[in-house]
Amino acid sequence: MKQATIALIGFRGAGKTSVGRVLARLLQGELIDTDELIVKSAGRSIADIFTIEGEGGFRRREGQAVEEAVRRRPPVISVGGGAVLDERNVERLRSTAWLVFLDAPAEVLWSRIQSDPAGRTSRPALTSLPGIEEVRELLKVRRPLYLRIADRAVDASVLSMERLAQQIKKDFEDYRAQRADSGQSTHP
Ligand code: S3P
Repeated sequence: MKQATIALIGFRGAGKTSVGRVLARLLQGELIDTDELIVKSAGRSIADIFTIEGEGGFRRREGQAVEEAVRRRPPVISVGGGAVLDERNVERLRSTAWLVFLDAPAEVLWSRIQSDPAGRTSRPALTSLPGIEEVRELLKVRRPLYLRIADRAVDASVLSMERLAQQIKKDFEDYRAQRADSGQSTHP
């Protein structure tokens, strides 16, 4: 089978980068994380990009990062929680990757966001709402979108990152085997 890509989508704190790292190891390849690409090419943190260039500047950089990630075709891509708000990013991702939505309730996401020491530099405020209220409010808009565009949704609040990555790998292999059996393209 040819090289295939899994793209992980979902809200901040869902575990996209952590699961992505394990998944990349299981698939013996690279994880491309779009937030990392953005920070590397900008030479500054995401919080600083928001302060200096505004959210618009960050979203432009995010579009370029998604483009680059898709072009490089790694086995695993993880994108920031807001990347799929731009239809062009969704099209690019869907044209090459199998999209997996890591789903979790607002309380779980908020508790993970709070306990992540890197969060302060990578997750600037997106609204003027405090704490978990921002998560709840944004999830109202984003969760239906994540669900609509994903090929598979998994509950990311119950299993360990390791088990979750194993489950996603197995689901993807089953999907590809089914497509191959029925004579359909195994792409993505
Ligand atoms: C964002 C999520 C962040 C990062 C940026 C904006 C968002 O990525 O891209 O702070 O709009 O939800 P993570 O989802 O990896 O935290």
